[in-house]
Amino acid sequence: MRVFLTGGAGYIGSHTLLEVLSQDHEVCVYDDFSNSEPEALNRVAKLTNRSFETVEGDVLDRPKMRQALIDFRPDVVVHFAGKKAVGESTEKPLMYYRNNVEGTLSLLEGMEAAGCKRIVFSSSATVYGDPHYLPYDEAHPLAPTNPYGMTKYMVELILKDWCTAQDDNTAVLLRYFNPVGAHESGEIGEDPNDIPNNLMPFVSQVAVGRLEKLRVFGADYETPDGTGVRDYIHVVDLAKAHAAAIGFAGDHKGCEAINVGSGQGSSVLDVVRAFEGASGRNIPYDVVERRAGDIAEFYADPTKAYNLLGWKTECDLADMCGSAWKWQSQNPNGYKPN
Ligand code: WQD
Repeated sequence: MRVFLTGGAGYIGSHTLLEVLSQDHEVCVYDDFSNSEPEALNRVAKLTNRSFETVEGDVLDRPKMRQALIDFRPDVVVHFAGKKAVGESTEKPLMYYRNNVEGTLSLLEGMEAAGCKRIVFSSSATVYGDPHYLPYDEAHPLAPTNPYGMTKYMVELILKDWCTAQDDNTAVLLRYFNPVGAHESGEIGEDPNDIPNNLMPFVSQVAVGRLEKLRVFGADYETPDGTGVRDYIHVVDLAKAHAAAIGFAGDHKGCEAINVGSGQGSSVLDVVRAFEGASGRNIPYDVVERRAGDIAEFYADPTKAYNLLGWKTECDLADMCGSAWKWQSQNPNGYKPN
């Protein structure tokens, strides 16, 4: 199939690009490199020995997006491009609604001009909000508690209506849990622009000496060791879920929301211990107050992904930490020159 990846140079985008190229699809990457590096694409090309098209552009640049889609004529679009930091979204909500919601409308209008009727959308478990029950299944009420999560929820509603309006349209809404880790080569990985908000890249930078110590945001939750529990998923498993969703979109019509998680919960201290085991490095930490907006615990019911996509996770926390450490130790400054 002809696959168009918005944000294909990003962390999850570049891992999905590698997986999709390995499955012999034809690919065009559309990325403005605002939160990614062209070097990631160079490395994927080397790892796969495959070529692909690249268009540098902003999803908000309607004429450029439209022309790129008409020129490439994709069978399916995987839409990664968007802002993704919860904390930043509470400080700059309008930027999040502009980029994530208007950017998706720009994309969909370009897709219609190019005759493309299939999309795989990068959604998030953040759409569920405070758990009414756990594990979250796809029937759980949707009540995001921050602007980032609200943008994902709004796009899900837009795609649902887009599929209702035209019954040969297809949208697969992949609700990510917590993506971590890196490709086994250590050549591509997570490379945050600033000090990481998320746990795994922060721990990784402590291990490599870029940051001094970890702050554990609360150890007084109703969880086994008092620290926050999350469903971490290896980014390569996540990339494989996208490849499976592309295949599913080729054979099905309509809109489907699907959880993409392991179904297992791990605490902050579980991650610290696993990373120390994988890296052989000590991860010093202080327990500090809870982070505003954090939920104590959440994890996925991944049954629907297995039933519809034939997909489930294969990697465990040790694999996630080992691969994250290999990427970080081989690339202490990420994609920037050492
Ligand atoms: C995980 C756990 C923290 C950092 C967010 C978004 C979600 C998705 C993934 C985009 C929590 C604790 C963290 C630190 C810590 N992003 N923590 N010290 O908040 O579950 O999810 O990122 O799709 O949409 O909501 O991930 O990695 O920030 O936190 O103690 O320095 O680690 O309290 O328990 P989160 P996280």
